[in-house]
Amino acid sequence: MDANKYETHEYDVIVIGAGGAGLRAAIEASAQGVKTALICKSLLGKAHTVMAEGGIAAAMGNVYPEDNWKVHFRDTMRGGKLLNNWRMAQIHAQESPDRVLELEEWGALFDRTKEGLILQRDFGGHRYARLAHVGDRTGLEMIRTLQEHAVHKGIDVYMECTIQTLLKDGEKICGAFGYWRESGKLVVFKAKAVVLATGGVGKCWKITSNSWEYTGDGIAMALDAGADLIDMEMIQFHPTGMVWPPSVRGILVTEGVRGDGGTLKNSEGRRFMFNYIPDFFRSETAETEQEADAWYTDKKNNRRTPDLLPRDEVARAINTEVKAGRGTPHGGVYLDIASRRPADYIQKRLPSMYHQFVHLAGVDITKEPMEVGPTCHYAMGGVRVDADTTAATVPGLFAAGEVAAGLHGANRLGGNSLSDLLVFGHRAGLYAAKYAKEFKRSLSVNPDQLEALTRHMLAPFESRDSENPYTIHAELQDCMQALVGIIRTESELKQALVRIASFRERLKKVSVQGNIQYNPGWHMALDLHSMLTISEVCTRAALERKESRGGHTRDDYPKTDPKLAKVNVVTRKKNGELQVCQEPLLEMPDDLKKLIEEEK
Ligand code: FUM
Repeated sequence: MDANKYETHEYDVIVIGAGGAGLRAAIEASAQGVKTALICKSLLGKAHTVMAEGGIAAAMGNVYPEDNWKVHFRDTMRGGKLLNNWRMAQIHAQESPDRVLELEEWGALFDRTKEGLILQRDFGGHRYARLAHVGDRTGLEMIRTLQEHAVHKGIDVYMECTIQTLLKDGEKICGAFGYWRESGKLVVFKAKAVVLATGGVGKCWKITSNSWEYTGDGIAMALDAGADLIDMEMIQFHPTGMVWPPSVRGILVTEGVRGDGGTLKNSEGRRFMFNYIPDFFRSETAETEQEADAWYTDKKNNRRTPDLLPRDEVARAINTEVKAGRGTPHGGVYLDIASRRPADYIQKRLPSMYHQFVHLAGVDITKEPMEVGPTCHYAMGGVRVDADTTAATVPGLFAAGEVAAGLHGANRLGGNSLSDLLVFGHRAGLYAAKYAKEFKRSLSVNPDQLEALTRHMLAPFESRDSENPYTIHAELQDCMQALVGIIRTESELKQALVRIASFRERLKKVSVQGNIQYNPGWHMALDLHSMLTISEVCTRAALERKESRGGHTRDDYPKTDPKLAKVNVVTRKKNGELQVCQEPLLEMPDDLKKLIEEEK
């Protein structure tokens, strides 16, 4: 086949995904003087970044001057149950403040302290109030700022273009292949370096804060291209998503509600989080709820309300309350800020939450509690990267943001996502540009590979069978929700694998009607390849980790296993077969170990 028959573009660096990490990477690559393009599946600015509502974690010390990178590093490592790549956690804690200030220089408008500094709010697992924020619209402000900056720098943007496969010349990445969502036409991007910034995998689960784009494409493409994945069993269920009405189930309710004073209650009106406090943190004196509230919120002694325990712990507690019959009528728990803060405070601090509940659920959160429950929000696992350069294990491939793994270990702290995007987006752009400058060969794409990919992509139009892609997707989501959810067991994980294998067989028989012009059924059929890969890899990794840690809870192995504290579960493809194994974490230097051990 003639490779020239495809629309073809050529760049030094292409960035796939235009959320916070992708935008920041493209800005940096372009600033390094290499020809850069940004490609996104959706419209520019429509990214899961906006779902990080409550703030950007950065130890700026504006509210608590005693805060610094060392404390942020320690919180991140402890929150991640020490499974984190320590070097990533160190870089992240050290560089976040500069990246926030840079964003401000580029026009981001943050809320202010009385002294005029960037205001910082409390979030779970952070010892000090350290989330720089703009009400409850921080992710949106970040995207707005980065987007304007990228557009003003003249970076080429390709919107509504789904990348399906990474192209290789020998061992090295040489571009990517995809289709225009509107016309259905296929398109080749030749590139010396590719930065993956495609975000997460939430659409494999039924209840999720993620929107339609988050089908794990980047992770699946990296695996197919030969890259290592790590910790794919680690999935974060954010404790507070909407539960009612059904059409909005899973939409995020920011942790900022609890950061600003909201509390969780069960159907008996009890603040149940007091019953889920780890022993080392438990008050021995408080007997009533009022006494406990006063004790746990004593900031002078650096205590924190248990409503702000790390997300994995709060999500499991809610799950237990609901299972024990102490849930709300729609299967969640109550989140109450109305009885603790005045209406004007709530409307000023949490304007999006106020509107979201009034318009979508008919609930006025300044007067009534919200009904909330866990929602699949974030993947801690993903593409294995070098901490300093963000390089994946395939030459020419880089990854930043949610698609990359390591920084957050077994559980991400709220607000660390936005700082992750800025810090490692910046580094991905920098090192991808450096790699592209040093790349001296001309780029060549294999026409036979393009022909095979084209046949594969168009197969659903030729099919004589009648499997419907939406039916397979709905059943996959039910399967992952029920069998690979917050609480897992070996027998359920094995059942999930059998079902995923049957979905794969059915996907071979999928058929779509109509033609290639804007055809959502066809798009879903293509996305299913990624979602089935992600679901299988996550389930296999969950079987491999026989312990409970962070975003991976095994009912049959309820404790953490010290032997597994120091291993990544690694997944790679060899000769078309998935291999899952355990590999040791990088050894942490003694000075950083001491930081973690200080103050149990
Ligand atoms: O709750 C939130 O505002 C989400 C923040 C995050 O995921 O970092």
